[in-house]
Amino acid sequence: MAIEVMTTKILVIGGTGYMGKFIVEASVKAGYPTFALIRESTLSNPRKSSIIQNFKNLSVNIVLGDIYDHETLVKVIKQVDVVISTVSHTQLTDQYKILAAIKEAGNIKRFFPSEFGNDVDQNHGVNEGKNLFETKVKFRRDVEAAGIPHTYVVANFLTQHFLPSMSQLMHITSTLDTIIILGDGNTKSTFNPEEGVAAFTIKTIDDPRTLNKILYIRPTENTLSYNDLISLWEKETRKTLKRVYISEEQVLKMIQESPYPINMGLAVCLAAYVKGDHTNFEIVPSIGFEASKLYPEVKYTTMDEYFQENHDRTPFYLNWLLSLNVNGQ
Ligand SMILES: NC(=O)c1ccc[n+]([C@@H]2O[C@H](COP(=O)([O-])OP(=O)(O)OC[C@H]3O[C@@H](n4cnc5c(N)ncnc54)[C@H](OP(=O)(O)O)[C@@H]3O)[C@@H](O)[C@H]2O)c1
Repeated sequence: MAIEVMTTKILVIGGTGYMGKFIVEASVKAGYPTFALIRESTLSNPRKSSIIQNFKNLSVNIVLGDIYDHETLVKVIKQVDVVISTVSHTQLTDQYKILAAIKEAGNIKRFFPSEFGNDVDQNHGVNEGKNLFETKVKFRRDVEAAGIPHTYVVANFLTQHFLPSMSQLMHITSTLDTIIILGDGNTKSTFNPEEGVAAFTIKTIDDPRTLNKILYIRPTENTLSYNDLISLWEKETRKTLKRVYISEEQVLKMIQESPYPINMGLAVCLAAYVKGDHTNFEIVPSIGFEASKLYPEVKYTTMDEYFQENHDRTPFYLNWLLSLNVNGQ
């Protein structure tokens, strides 16, 4: 099938990162002229060579730059129409460098700040989780105050992050016949494979309905309780796990007593799995739209299909996270 040629030029900042590489690929596949701002040091980083090679194969316009190099950043931004930031959660405040460059360039039709999590305006975060969410909230307000056209992508839980692979679990010494669950396991949350999130993100680029709105990626099939998620995995692997439930009070104590990044992981999970931050509000048109309803033509992987297609992915995120404590990693 021929790719439709789009004219809107898209710049991804953070394209060689975990989420960014999916965005770059989806942008090219949708036919957009795609630019990736990459630091010179990244080009020679052996850990990034397969991503860079893939970008070259896809004819991505690789532009050298750095968010700390204002002059180059402004020049690059002047060549494009849309900026998508996928910088790390540790660099959220560095996005003020991007905002300053967008303001100076003055040509950007839409900016996507680095979000790709829950709707931070509706969060019940504590501790490190609260810090993360509030940093994203403050940046939203500053983008709005600057009058920059924008879209915020609420991707909820990304599967490669929250469903660890068997190789990630290799260091866990105890057998994986028991699974740790926060709360009663009945609160619904949303799990989204990265390719679908990227495809939905790119769909919004030229869509006036999502301008200055939130794109919520909350498909019904991927919105399920942790108990149901585990049951899906058990069905696929023909295993039965012993379920151990941790109360909200126990989690709060663990968050206070744990070092980073365990405290952050626990706090983010508490907000979703216990407080229901992915699902405890209605999506209203004055604020945003649900992606699978807005773009029914986009094929995304359901969680049932995901476990069938990804035999190494597991629901043992909390077992993995807490094992970091035991092993001092
Ligand atoms: N919902 C979820 O489940 C979930 C999970 C994870 C992340 N997230 C969110 O997704 C967003 C992206 O996070 P991520 O984990 O994908 O980030 P990441 O993997 O750490 O990638 C960060 C990117 O920024 C680039 N970068 C770093 N410093 C730079 C600089 N000075 N100039 C230009 N580029 C620079 C990195 O380049 P190099 O490749 O050279 O290092 C990399 O491409 C964050 O908002 C995060 O909170 C959500």
